[in-house]
Amino acid sequence: MEFSIKSGSPEKQRSACVVVGVFEPRKLTLTGEVLDNAARNHLSDIIRRGDMEGKAGSTLLLHNVPGTLCDRVLLVGLGKEKEFGDKEFADAIRVAVRTLNETGSFDGTVFLTDTAVRRRSTAWRVRQAVIVAHEAVYRFDQFKSKKDKVRRPLRKLTFVVDRRNELAAAEAALIQGQAIGEGLNLAKDLANLPANVCTPSHLAEAAQKLAVEHKLDCQIIDRDEMNALGMHSLLAVASGSRQPAKLIVLQYKGGKGDDKPLALIGKGITFDTGGISLKPAAEMDEMKYDMCGAASVLGTMKAVAALKLPLNLTVIVPAAENMPGGGATRPGDIVTSMSGQTIEILNTDAEGRLILCDALTYAARFDPDIVVDVATLTGACVIALGHVATGLFANNDTLARELLHAGDEAHDRAWQMPLWSDYQELLKSPFADMSNVGGRSAGSVTAACFLARFARKYVWAHLDIAGTAWKSGNEKGATGRPVSLLVHYLLKRAGRLH
Ligand code: BES
Ligand code: MN
Ligand code: ZN
Repeated sequence: MEFSIKSGSPEKQRSACVVVGVFEPRKLTLTGEVLDNAARNHLSDIIRRGDMEGKAGSTLLLHNVPGTLCDRVLLVGLGKEKEFGDKEFADAIRVAVRTLNETGSFDGTVFLTDTAVRRRSTAWRVRQAVIVAHEAVYRFDQFKSKKDKVRRPLRKLTFVVDRRNELAAAEAALIQGQAIGEGLNLAKDLANLPANVCTPSHLAEAAQKLAVEHKLDCQIIDRDEMNALGMHSLLAVASGSRQPAKLIVLQYKGGKGDDKPLALIGKGITFDTGGISLKPAAEMDEMKYDMCGAASVLGTMKAVAALKLPLNLTVIVPAAENMPGGGATRPGDIVTSMSGQTIEILNTDAEGRLILCDALTYAARFDPDIVVDVATLTGACVIALGHVATGLFANNDTLARELLHAGDEAHDRAWQMPLWSDYQELLKSPFADMSNVGGRSAGSVTAACFLARFARKYVWAHLDIAGTAWKSGNEKGATGRPVSLLVHYLLKRAGRLH
């Protein structure tokens, strides 16, 4: 899809469809009123007759509106004006784009971006609208032999801003929104692939492809080399599978040579059966999504490289498949991690931390400014925060604050959880330096506490995306989260977000 920005009056748009908002109850937005005046009260008459209340999510498509140059006018309900916030704005854009896509308009001129959203700038509205538009038309149909094609799909979207002096900022925001949208699409595509296609080797190939497209350094570390590095915790997870583990390292150098890199680590379990501590059958298919952390850091890398941000970024993906088998790790096995710390693996289903700990140790060699790992780590995080907020843990308050802020700005929010040393006791093992599980209580906290033991040398945060990375049920699919949060954080660090 093509995107553009303009400013101008609604009645003068030569477009297949002009989109304007209506607040509840029956109140046209300012642009709506301008259009209504040009149309000699055509819109207000329709609204007064009761065809459009302005309820959030409602739409009304009008043809042949007098006094206009467009083929159609789409009214979109925005809900109550004083409740019009981030979520309501995104919902309005989503329903507008879906309706345009399904009702035969090749292009649309969307005036919703000229409507005030509490606390937000014009640039914010444009960036967010472009991201939401990407999400609204996203489909994953690679494996459908008959694709349900949209007969006349939407090809071009124009977002309108109020004033000409806002055009430059809006243009920059549009480019950022596009990069984030494409990063999200990559993350979702990788995540939605079934585990028989998306193996650790496939993730490595996807990273190599990204490296070629954007001139990144790419290094794939294989089993023998991991063995030599002492990554026995990571290798213990892969040992039950026929798929060899891979450690993927991508480096983007957009900053000065001596700028310390920011490092992102993504959990890349391409399928999590639980291993010998086998998971129950129900919904086990969803464990193909256990590489959403990996997908999100690759998507973030794509966006950062496309925007040529002036910073250095290193992405590390430990990738493995967690399977039972003759070579599989047994409960009670003790391994030595790359850090030298020994781990008693009491539950082979707590495998995410076992691959991440070696990746965290490996990350230190880049002398990173900060490290953020992203992982579908614990079912307990879903119980704590549901599907709305990502769990955030950090050993540094500034980094925590910056990530929370980025999440708020991106409407891809996280919520901080404690990492107090009091919880560390739960990881005691009678035989090794630690156990890989901490019992039933505070499961997402003890998982983060485990990781913290491998991240002592640098400023670090951990994002538990178990509840936010994908949706179940009839809307099943990856969300791409937290690509938007991460790119917003990096935009801010690069001085490109004001
Ligand atoms: N990948 C799962 C976490 C998960 C479960 C994410 C459900 C999303 C939905 C992880 O590897 C896992 O199995 N964690 C265990 C840890 C436990 C054995 C301490 C869990 O959460 O049950
Ligand atoms: Mn598991
Ligand atoms: Zn897992």
